[in-house]
Amino acid sequence: MAEQASEPWRVTERVFPTSGSAEEQLRFLLGYAILAPSSHNTQPWHFRIGESRVDLIADRSRGLSVVDPDDRELIISCGAALYNLRLALRCFGFQDTVEPFPDHNEPDLLARVRIAPGGVASAEEQALLAAIPRRRTNRAAFAERPVPPILLDALADAAAAERAWFHVVTGQRERAAVAALIAEGDRLQWADPAFRRELASWMRADWTTRGDGMPGTGFGIGEIESLVAPVLIRTFDMGRGRAAKDQELALGSPVLAVLGTDADTPEAHLEAGQAIARVLLRAAVDDVSASFLNQPNEIPALRTRLRETLGHPGWPQMLVRLGYESPGPHTPRRPVADVVLQ
Ligand SMILES: Cc1cc2nc3c(=O)[nH]c(=O)nc-3n(C[C@H](O)[C@H](O)[C@H](O)COP(=O)(O)O)c2cc1C
Repeated sequence: MAEQASEPWRVTERVFPTSGSAEEQLRFLLGYAILAPSSHNTQPWHFRIGESRVDLIADRSRGLSVVDPDDRELIISCGAALYNLRLALRCFGFQDTVEPFPDHNEPDLLARVRIAPGGVASAEEQALLAAIPRRRTNRAAFAERPVPPILLDALADAAAAERAWFHVVTGQRERAAVAALIAEGDRLQWADPAFRRELASWMRADWTTRGDGMPGTGFGIGEIESLVAPVLIRTFDMGRGRAAKDQELALGSPVLAVLGTDADTPEAHLEAGQAIARVLLRAAVDDVSASFLNQPNEIPALRTRLRETLGHPGWPQMLVRLGYESPGPHTPRRPVADVVLQ
């Protein structure tokens, strides 16, 4: 990955501008927000710095109109960035108060974070902050080593603290049913040329200098393959192969879990984003990797069947698998300067 695009991951607490202006300090803290995961690594966020506040604004020009026509995952991605920002604020001595969707006349304004001095972070929050530059999506097959139940309880607590639920898929039948939905999702999505075109447009060569999108390294493919991947994806329906691989990953991962919310509104999507960020960071603290198999949540008919399979009231938002395996390189990020509105 190009030097410039990986630079944001070098953020470290040691260089917080203690004697800098309020704006310099907030820009530094936004360096943690932009490391959040986002669908196709679109980073669909803008930030506006004001007097004792930061606004989080959806950048809908980065939406994925085929896979995410209602911007559900776009708002989840922004929610993940919001959680990282809140965490960083507290860890550097600020109190944060979040007002979700504060202005009906500005629907892209997802949240206003009011900032005051005097925040105190717990040891757990400090550990979560330190995990931000280590977290990354890991699409490799995980080792057979089980994830301890005590960590699964901590992940459920992390989700609940952000008003979401974390349902671990248990039992052979439930797991087989969810894995089958993932495979069906792959076949349906890949059969659609518009889905493939959209995915291909966010695939990047390994040596990309662009600050967004997904290099081949994130999929375990080599440099040359990463160059031709967009053409192959655009041209061929590889749904059957993808389905078989994802089904195997879903069946074989130590943990398969669904993060959901009671409602399915933009407010709930913002909460789901904060919850998934917190869950992934809590897992990363214990060196547990995660990756997503969201296909069933992206196709309404499959989402209905996923709800029936889980038998859990509410709405599934994210489908993840968790386990142990050394992660690959980071994906690129756009620098803070590119996402702060003047
Ligand atoms: C809302 C959302 C949906 C995602 N869905 C998928 C998915 O279905 N499959 C997948 O492989 N990755 C998925 N991802 C992971 C992103 O591709 C990943 O976060 C992005 O490429 C940035 O990489 P990083 O997580 O390593 O920082 C999703 C991420 C988010 C936030």
